[in-house]
Amino acid sequence: MSNNRVSRRQFLNYTLTGVGGFMAAGMLLPMVRFAIDPVLQTKAEGDFVQTSQKVADLTEEPVRVDFSYEQVDAWYKSEVTDTAWVYKQGDQVIALSPVCKHLGCTVNWAGDSAHPDQFFCACHGGRYEKTGKNIPGTPPTGPLDEYEVAEQDGLVMLGKKIANTLV
Ligand code: FES
Repeated sequence: MSNNRVSRRQFLNYTLTGVGGFMAAGMLLPMVRFAIDPVLQTKAEGDFVQTSQKVADLTEEPVRVDFSYEQVDAWYKSEVTDTAWVYKQGDQVIALSPVCKHLGCTVNWAGDSAHPDQFFCACHGGRYEKTGKNIPGTPPTGPLDEYEVAEQDGLVMLGKKIANTLV
């Protein structure tokens, strides 16, 4: 008989340790994968979203352009719909955010018949020039934000919101 024989106790120890370790790895790996999942996702920030608005159809009159995109917030994915007021200034395409700088209501172009060439916020009577510049004496304290704009296949592409560069 050899001295290297594995005793029944040792055999049980090795077997239970191996099976236990295998089961623990099986439980822990999905948890680790779930915890670091957002790190593995590619970032969508800075991407442009395609709209259905043709650049060729734009004039100097702002038009409302609705667009939607998928937003990833940690583990939660959702479809977000957003809006921009888009027009042409010479060859340049301008896209402004509709979010009022007073308390966040939505502004409309020519929403006030007394000021048909301005953006109007119906919540508290805020008004903005076509460039997005807030009109002194009305509640908003800053200009409307701008969207980064690009063109692809003749369509307006909108990027992230930036501070207004026109005023
Ligand atoms: S929220 Fe627009 S004027 Fe108050």
